[in-house]
Amino acid sequence: MELICPVCSRSLTAELHRYVCAKGHSFDRAKSGYVNLLQKQKHRQRGDDADMAKARRSFLNAGYYQPLLDAVAAAAGQSVQIADIGCGEGWYSCGLLKSLQGQGIAAELTGIDISPEILRFAAARASAEGFAAQTNWAVASVNRLPFADASCDCIVNLFAPCEPAEFSRILKKNGLLLRAVPLERHLWELKAAVYDQPYENRPVCNAQEGFRLEQLRTITYPITVPHDDLQALFAMTPYIRKTAPEDIAKLTSRDSLTTTVSFGLLICRKK
Ligand SMILES: C[S@@+](CC[C@H](N)C(=O)[O-])C[C@H]1O[C@@H](n2cnc3c(N)ncnc32)[C@H](O)[C@@H]1O
Ligand SMILES: [Zn+2]
Repeated sequence: MELICPVCSRSLTAELHRYVCAKGHSFDRAKSGYVNLLQKQKHRQRGDDADMAKARRSFLNAGYYQPLLDAVAAAAGQSVQIADIGCGEGWYSCGLLKSLQGQGIAAELTGIDISPEILRFAAARASAEGFAAQTNWAVASVNRLPFADASCDCIVNLFAPCEPAEFSRILKKNGLLLRAVPLERHLWELKAAVYDQPYENRPVCNAQEGFRLEQLRTITYPITVPHDDLQALFAMTPYIRKTAPEDIAKLTSRDSLTTTVSFGLLICRKK
Protein backbone atom coordinates (compact mmCIF):
# COMPACT_ATOMS: atom_id res chain seq x y z
CA MET A 1 0.00 0.00 0.00
CA GLU A 2 1.35 3.35 -1.02
CA LEU A 3 2.08 5.88 1.71
CA ILE A 4 1.03 9.48 1.14
CA CYS A 5 2.74 12.69 2.18
CA PRO A 6 1.34 14.04 5.47
CA VAL A 7 1.87 17.63 4.24
CA CYS A 8 0.35 17.62 0.72
CA SER A 9 -1.23 14.12 0.41
CA ARG A 10 0.69 13.27 -2.79
CA SER A 11 2.15 9.74 -3.10
CA LEU A 12 5.44 9.09 -1.40
CA THR A 13 8.20 7.32 -3.30
CA ALA A 14 10.46 5.07 -1.24
CA GLU A 15 14.18 5.66 -1.76
CA LEU A 16 17.02 3.92 0.06
CA HIS A 17 17.22 6.39 2.96
CA ARG A 18 14.04 8.43 2.67
CA TYR A 19 10.51 8.78 1.34
CA VAL A 20 9.83 11.79 -0.88
CA CYS A 21 6.76 13.27 -2.62
CA ALA A 22 6.55 15.10 -5.98
CA LYS A 23 6.57 18.46 -4.15
CA GLY A 24 9.86 17.59 -2.47
CA HIS A 25 8.63 16.94 1.07
CA SER A 26 11.11 14.43 2.38
CA PHE A 27 11.01 12.05 5.35
CA ASP A 28 14.09 10.15 6.48
CA ARG A 29 13.95 6.43 6.93
CA ALA A 30 15.37 5.38 10.30
CA LYS A 31 18.23 2.85 10.25
CA SER A 32 15.85 0.09 11.30
CA GLY A 33 13.57 0.92 8.34
CA TYR A 34 10.55 2.85 9.64
CA VAL A 35 9.60 6.39 8.59
CA ASN A 36 8.19 9.10 10.84
CA LEU A 37 5.17 10.75 9.16
CA LEU A 38 3.66 12.18 12.33
CA GLN A 39 2.86 15.88 12.04
CA LYS A 40 2.92 18.19 15.05
CA GLN A 41 -0.01 17.36 17.32
CA LYS A 42 -2.04 19.85 19.36
CA HIS A 43 -2.19 17.37 22.24
CA ARG A 44 0.81 15.10 22.14
CA GLN A 45 -0.32 11.47 22.29
CA ARG A 46 2.11 8.97 23.72
CA GLY A 47 2.17 5.40 22.58
CA ASP A 48 3.92 2.49 24.22
CA ASP A 49 7.59 2.77 25.17
CA ALA A 50 10.60 0.53 24.52
CA ASP A 51 10.18 -1.42 27.77
CA MET A 52 6.60 -2.29 26.85
CA ALA A 53 7.76 -3.28 23.36
CA LYS A 54 10.39 -5.61 24.81
CA ALA A 55 7.88 -7.15 27.20
CA ARG A 56 5.32 -7.64 24.41
CA ARG A 57 7.92 -9.13 22.07
CA SER A 58 9.09 -11.59 24.71
CA PHE A 59 5.57 -12.66 25.73
CA LEU A 60 4.10 -12.89 22.22
CA ASN A 61 7.11 -14.81 20.88
CA ALA A 62 6.26 -17.58 23.37
CA GLY A 63 3.03 -18.21 21.40
CA TYR A 64 0.39 -17.77 24.13
CA TYR A 65 -1.80 -15.72 21.79
CA GLN A 66 -1.41 -17.92 18.68
CA PRO A 67 -5.16 -18.81 18.63
CA LEU A 68 -5.99 -15.11 18.15
CA LEU A 69 -3.41 -14.76 15.37
CA ASP A 70 -4.89 -17.84 13.67
CA ALA A 71 -8.39 -16.33 13.90
CA VAL A 72 -7.17 -13.02 12.43
CA ALA A 73 -5.42 -14.86 9.57
CA ALA A 74 -8.54 -16.94 8.84
CA ALA A 75 -10.71 -13.79 8.79
CA ALA A 76 -8.29 -11.85 6.55
CA GLY A 77 -9.21 -14.22 3.67
CA GLN A 78 -7.67 -13.17 0.39
CA SER A 79 -6.65 -9.67 1.48
CA VAL A 80 -3.58 -8.32 -0.31
CA GLN A 81 -3.27 -4.70 0.81
CA ILE A 82 -3.28 -4.75 4.61
CA ALA A 83 -2.85 -1.99 7.18
CA ASP A 84 -2.12 -2.93 10.79
CA ILE A 85 -3.14 0.13 12.81
CA GLY A 86 -1.56 0.36 16.27
CA CYS A 87 0.63 -2.55 15.18
CA GLY A 88 2.95 -2.57 18.19
CA GLU A 89 6.14 -4.58 17.78
CA GLY A 90 4.83 -6.51 14.78
CA TRP A 91 4.25 -10.06 16.07
CA TYR A 92 0.73 -10.15 14.62
CA SER A 93 1.74 -8.24 11.47
CA CYS A 94 4.53 -10.65 10.52
CA GLY A 95 2.58 -13.69 11.73
CA LEU A 96 -0.31 -12.69 9.48
CA LEU A 97 1.98 -12.30 6.45
CA LYS A 98 3.51 -15.70 7.18
CA SER A 99 0.12 -17.34 7.39
CA LEU A 100 -1.08 -15.74 4.14
CA GLN A 101 2.18 -16.69 2.43
CA GLY A 102 1.53 -20.30 3.50
CA GLN A 103 -1.78 -20.10 1.59
CA GLY A 104 -0.03 -18.71 -1.51
CA ILE A 105 -1.23 -15.13 -0.95
CA ALA A 106 1.48 -12.49 -1.52
CA ALA A 107 0.12 -9.77 0.77
CA GLU A 108 1.71 -6.42 1.55
CA LEU A 109 1.37 -4.88 4.98
CA THR A 110 1.92 -1.40 6.37
CA GLY A 111 2.21 -1.13 10.13
CA ILE A 112 1.18 2.18 11.71
CA ASP A 113 1.92 3.14 15.29
CA ILE A 114 2.25 6.44 17.12
CA SER A 115 5.38 5.26 18.92
CA PRO A 116 8.72 5.39 17.05
CA GLU A 117 10.27 3.24 19.78
CA ILE A 118 7.77 0.48 19.07
CA LEU A 119 8.23 0.66 15.29
CA ARG A 120 11.97 0.18 15.65
CA PHE A 121 11.14 -3.26 17.06
CA ALA A 122 8.55 -3.98 14.35
CA ALA A 123 10.90 -3.06 11.48
CA ALA A 124 13.68 -5.16 13.03
CA ARG A 125 11.30 -8.11 13.37
CA ALA A 126 10.25 -7.83 9.71
CA SER A 127 13.89 -7.87 8.57
CA ALA A 128 14.75 -10.81 10.84
CA GLU A 129 11.75 -12.81 9.62
CA GLY A 130 12.33 -12.06 5.93
CA PHE A 131 9.39 -9.68 5.43
CA ALA A 132 11.29 -6.41 4.81
CA ALA A 133 10.23 -6.28 1.14
CA GLN A 134 6.50 -6.81 1.87
CA THR A 135 6.26 -4.31 4.72
CA ASN A 136 6.36 -0.59 5.45
CA TRP A 137 6.37 0.87 8.95
CA ALA A 138 5.23 4.43 9.57
CA VAL A 139 4.83 6.55 12.68
CA ALA A 140 1.42 8.21 12.40
CA SER A 141 -1.74 8.63 14.41
CA VAL A 142 -4.90 6.63 13.95
CA ASN A 143 -6.62 10.05 13.55
CA ARG A 144 -4.76 10.82 10.33
CA LEU A 145 -3.56 7.80 8.42
CA PRO A 146 -0.98 8.29 5.63
CA PHE A 147 -2.95 6.35 3.00
CA ALA A 148 -5.01 7.42 -0.01
CA ASP A 149 -8.80 7.02 0.01
CA ALA A 150 -10.05 3.50 -0.86
CA SER A 151 -6.58 1.96 -1.03
CA CYS A 152 -6.79 -0.81 1.57
CA ASP A 153 -8.39 -4.31 1.49
CA CYS A 154 -8.15 -5.05 5.19
CA ILE A 155 -7.45 -3.15 8.41
CA VAL A 156 -6.12 -5.07 11.38
CA ASN A 157 -6.70 -3.18 14.65
CA LEU A 158 -5.76 -5.22 17.69
CA PHE A 159 -6.06 -3.75 21.20
CA ALA A 160 -5.36 -0.31 19.75
CA PRO A 161 -7.33 2.92 19.26
CA CYS A 162 -10.02 2.81 16.58
CA GLU A 163 -11.08 5.73 14.35
CA PRO A 164 -14.03 4.48 12.28
CA ALA A 165 -14.33 7.50 9.94
CA GLU A 166 -10.64 7.36 9.03
CA PHE A 167 -10.76 3.56 8.67
CA SER A 168 -13.74 3.86 6.36
CA ARG A 169 -11.94 6.49 4.25
CA ILE A 170 -8.90 4.30 3.53
CA LEU A 171 -10.79 1.04 2.97
CA LYS A 172 -11.91 -0.06 -0.48
CA LYS A 173 -15.60 -0.82 -1.06
CA ASN A 174 -16.53 -3.90 1.01
CA GLY A 175 -13.16 -3.68 2.80
CA LEU A 176 -12.63 -5.62 6.02
CA LEU A 177 -11.99 -4.32 9.52
CA LEU A 178 -10.65 -6.90 11.99
CA ARG A 179 -10.73 -5.49 15.47
CA ALA A 180 -9.70 -7.31 18.66
CA VAL A 181 -10.74 -6.26 22.15
CA PRO A 182 -10.18 -7.81 25.59
CA LEU A 183 -13.46 -9.28 26.88
CA GLU A 184 -14.86 -8.83 30.41
CA ARG A 185 -12.74 -11.46 32.17
CA HIS A 186 -9.55 -11.28 30.12
CA LEU A 187 -6.59 -12.04 32.46
CA TRP A 188 -9.00 -12.19 35.42
CA GLU A 189 -6.81 -14.40 37.66
CA LEU A 190 -3.81 -12.17 36.94
CA LYS A 191 -5.75 -9.10 38.08
CA ALA A 192 -7.11 -10.98 41.11
CA ALA A 193 -3.53 -11.86 42.11
CA VAL A 194 -2.50 -8.20 42.00
CA TYR A 195 -5.52 -6.15 43.07
CA ASP A 196 -7.77 -6.41 46.13
CA GLN A 197 -10.72 -5.41 43.98
CA PRO A 198 -10.16 -6.39 40.36
CA TYR A 199 -12.61 -4.93 37.87
CA GLU A 200 -14.06 -6.42 34.70
CA ASN A 201 -13.28 -4.87 31.30
CA ARG A 202 -16.12 -3.16 29.50
CA PRO A 203 -15.57 -4.05 25.86
CA VAL A 204 -17.45 -2.31 23.06
CA CYS A 205 -18.48 -5.13 20.76
CA ASN A 206 -20.91 -3.46 18.39
CA ALA A 207 -20.22 -2.38 14.80
CA GLN A 208 -18.52 0.97 14.47
CA GLU A 209 -20.25 3.74 12.50
CA GLY A 210 -20.03 3.01 8.76
CA PHE A 211 -19.40 -0.74 9.30
CA ARG A 212 -21.53 -3.88 9.42
CA LEU A 213 -20.60 -6.48 12.07
CA GLU A 214 -20.45 -9.79 10.18
CA GLN A 215 -19.26 -11.92 13.07
CA LEU A 216 -18.13 -11.60 16.67
CA ARG A 217 -15.75 -14.45 17.45
CA THR A 218 -14.98 -15.03 21.12
CA ILE A 219 -11.72 -16.78 21.89
CA THR A 220 -11.36 -17.89 25.52
CA TYR A 221 -8.88 -20.37 26.98
CA PRO A 222 -6.58 -20.79 29.99
CA ILE A 223 -2.83 -20.26 29.86
CA THR A 224 -0.24 -21.25 32.46
CA VAL A 225 2.50 -18.68 32.54
CA PRO A 226 5.85 -19.31 34.26
CA HIS A 227 7.59 -16.62 36.31
CA ASP A 228 9.58 -14.78 33.58
CA ASP A 229 6.75 -14.71 31.05
CA LEU A 230 4.42 -13.54 33.81
CA GLN A 231 6.53 -10.45 34.43
CA ALA A 232 6.54 -9.78 30.66
CA LEU A 233 2.76 -10.24 30.46
CA PHE A 234 2.12 -7.72 33.19
CA ALA A 235 4.68 -5.27 31.80
CA MET A 236 3.00 -5.21 28.36
CA THR A 237 -0.40 -4.26 29.77
CA PRO A 238 -1.56 -0.71 30.57
CA TYR A 239 -1.82 -1.83 34.24
CA ILE A 240 1.95 -1.55 34.63
CA ARG A 241 1.68 2.26 34.50
CA LYS A 242 -0.93 2.50 37.25
CA THR A 243 -0.06 -0.25 39.72
CA ALA A 244 1.68 0.38 43.05
CA PRO A 245 5.12 -1.31 43.48
CA GLU A 246 3.81 -3.36 46.43
CA ASP A 247 1.05 -4.78 44.22
CA ILE A 248 3.50 -5.57 41.40
CA ALA A 249 5.62 -7.42 44.00
CA LYS A 250 2.74 -9.89 44.52
CA LEU A 251 3.46 -11.22 41.03
CA THR A 252 7.25 -11.15 41.29
CA SER A 253 7.15 -13.74 44.06
CA ARG A 254 5.10 -16.29 42.06
CA ASP A 255 6.59 -19.27 40.20
CA SER A 256 3.70 -19.37 37.75
CA LEU A 257 0.05 -18.42 37.31
CA THR A 258 -2.83 -19.94 35.38
CA THR A 259 -5.13 -17.29 33.95
CA THR A 260 -7.90 -16.96 31.40
CA VAL A 261 -7.36 -15.12 28.15
CA SER A 262 -10.56 -13.89 26.59
CA PHE A 263 -10.63 -11.99 23.31
CA GLY A 264 -13.40 -10.70 21.09
CA LEU A 265 -12.56 -10.56 17.38
CA LEU A 266 -14.99 -8.28 15.55
CA ILE A 267 -15.13 -9.07 11.85
CA CYS A 268 -16.64 -5.98 10.22
CA ARG A 269 -17.31 -4.98 6.63
CA LYS A 270 -17.35 -1.41 5.31
CA LYS A 271 -20.94 -0.51 4.35
C1 LIG B 1 -1.92 -2.52 23.43
S1 LIG B 1 -0.82 -2.09 22.14
C2 LIG B 1 -1.24 -3.30 20.89
C3 LIG B 1 -0.16 -3.52 19.89
C4 LIG B 1 -0.40 -4.66 18.88
N1 LIG B 1 -1.57 -4.42 18.07
C5 LIG B 1 -0.50 -5.97 19.62
O1 LIG B 1 -1.63 -6.42 19.85
O2 LIG B 1 0.53 -6.54 19.97
C6 LIG B 1 -1.52 -0.57 21.49
C7 LIG B 1 -0.63 0.10 20.45
O3 LIG B 1 -1.33 1.24 19.93
C8 LIG B 1 -0.39 2.30 19.79
N2 LIG B 1 -1.14 3.58 19.81
C9 LIG B 1 -1.65 4.23 20.90
N3 LIG B 1 -2.28 5.37 20.51
C10 LIG B 1 -2.19 5.42 19.16
C11 LIG B 1 -2.64 6.37 18.18
N4 LIG B 1 -3.34 7.46 18.51
N5 LIG B 1 -2.35 6.13 16.87
C12 LIG B 1 -1.64 5.02 16.51
N6 LIG B 1 -1.19 4.09 17.40
C13 LIG B 1 -1.46 4.28 18.70
C14 LIG B 1 0.58 2.11 20.96
O4 LIG B 1 1.82 2.76 20.78
C15 LIG B 1 0.69 0.58 21.02
O5 LIG B 1 1.77 0.10 20.24
ZN1 LIG C 1 4.26 16.45 0.00
